[in-house]
Amino acid sequence: KSFKVALVVGSLRKESFNKKIARAIRELNVEGMHFENIEIGDLPLYNEDLEKDVPQSWQYFRDVLPSYDAVLFITPEYNRSVPAVLKNALDVGSRPYGKSVWAGKPAAIISCTAGGLGAFGANHHLRQSLVFLDMPTLQQPEAYLSHAANLFDESGTLKDTSTRDFLNSFLIKFESWIEKNIEEKKV
Ligand code: FNR
Repeated sequence: KSFKVALVVGSLRKESFNKKIARAIRELNVEGMHFENIEIGDLPLYNEDLEKDVPQSWQYFRDVLPSYDAVLFITPEYNRSVPAVLKNALDVGSRPYGKSVWAGKPAAIISCTAGGLGAFGANHHLRQSLVFLDMPTLQQPEAYLSHAANLFDESGTLKDTSTRDFLNSFLIKFESWIEKNIEEKKV
């Protein structure tokens, strides 16, 4: 059995540390898990008026998410909260009312910052939204990655072995969390 997991990254910048964490996760090749990045930077800002003529990128996002078994959010912190681009993706996926792509999907959060506090604020503000979106979210271990500039080599590869080991054990816990919480696919 292999779980298909959507990686949703809360940073758009090319050299993003969070993107590099996503890459490291894909490259860890954890058995039983397959990760794919989901683009959120092209989703127009949520505006209920657009539901009359849904933007193509919204529709694609809403169509593709249900094919994933689980979601792993990897996010920086902006002003002690979730970057707007990630909050926007949550909002787009949550509508139309009653057709949320998030409902019931197992989730986990990794927050990563260049700073020293592990993007704790973003991690926990995101948890608040996931409660309402009804996503069973891995509680332990928590993943707060700090001083991100020290974790990668010049090619963007995760060079810090303790972080790599931590991510590996985190993903193994996440895998059993998915197994426990996944909803039977309705035929
Ligand atoms: C930041 N940064 C930041 N860092 C942090 O630890 N707590 C914070 O509240 C903030 N606030 C914040 C606001 C804005 C608008 C920006 C642009 C940046 C710094 C942030 O952690 C740093 O830029 C990271 O490198 C961003 O993650 P990526 O893009 O490298 O993945």
